Amino acid sequence: MNLNNKVAIVTGSSKGVGRVIAEQLLSKGAHVIGWSRSETTINHPNFKGDCLDVGNEEQVIAHFKEVMRIHNTIDIVINNAGFGTYRKIEETDSAVLQQMFDTNVLAIFYLTKLVVPVMKKLQQGYIINISSIAGVTGIENMSAYNATKFAVKGMSESLYKELRKDGIKVTCILPGSIETGFFDEFEEFTSNNKLDPKDVSDSIIYCLESAPSFHPVNFEIRPFNSSVK
Ligand SMILES: NC(=O)c1ccc[n+]([C@@H]2O[C@H](COP(=O)([O-])OP(=O)(O)OC[C@H]3O[C@@H](n4cnc5c(N)ncnc54)[C@H](OP(=O)(O)O)[C@@H]3O)[C@@H](O)[C@H]2O)c1
Repeated sequence: MNLNNKVAIVTGSSKGVGRVIAEQLLSKGAHVIGWSRSETTINHPNFKGDCLDVGNEEQVIAHFKEVMRIHNTIDIVINNAGFGTYRKIEETDSAVLQQMFDTNVLAIFYLTKLVVPVMKKLQQGYIINISSIAGVTGIENMSAYNATKFAVKGMSESLYKELRKDGIKVTCILPGSIETGFFDEFEEFTSNNKLDPKDVSDSIIYCLESAPSFHPVNFEIRPFNSSVK
């Protein structure tokens, strides 16, 4: 897909991976709508930031209506907003578990339900869902996060098969640890081999720009540091 003039929604745009991918899409000529609970401080004529909770379906519906009122189309969705916790199962608060499913999983359903009818009419579109290595392998003390990210991978694989006949590509991105604020609330978790958010953003751009004849289904990204044995 040529990204120039395409209309893209990026969730979780205020920081981390979402912010970098929003900036990179803008540099490619796309119009970007960034969604986060806090303000996204990107100053660009083709950027509009909206503050909402993506896990709240009413808010997603209202803000998507506004996107359609302004642009009357949607070409790309980057379902990136998410969070995790590093907690033993008996210390995992049920309210936090619910919030994690709302943000990491249900939010993707809410937005995808809205964009697919538009993309089907266009017979074109790209949905990128950010899962994690935690979407393919269990990690001690991350059972809640693991459950959400496995769900994202399963949902993405189903959608890729369901939507390919309508010209809509769905890719699940599965990154290893990334150097962002994601780990700020984590206790006792260390990783000294992390991806840069730009590594993830570059991989997303690679997928979006892939030729119409193929598409990456699951895109696993690991840090590559030849000095680490
Ligand atoms: N960092 C890693 O090691 C890593 C590895 C693999 C996968 N991932 C995944 O990559 C994605 C991005 O993570 P990141 O590392 O960039 O984390 P981050 O720096 O903490 O950024 C998370 C983004 O999500 C937004 N967000 C969280 N809850 C939200 C909600 N309810 N509604 C709207 N926006 C919300 C945050 O903005 P507000 O707080 O302003 O709402 C922020 O913009 C996540 O899905 C994460 O699970 C991360």
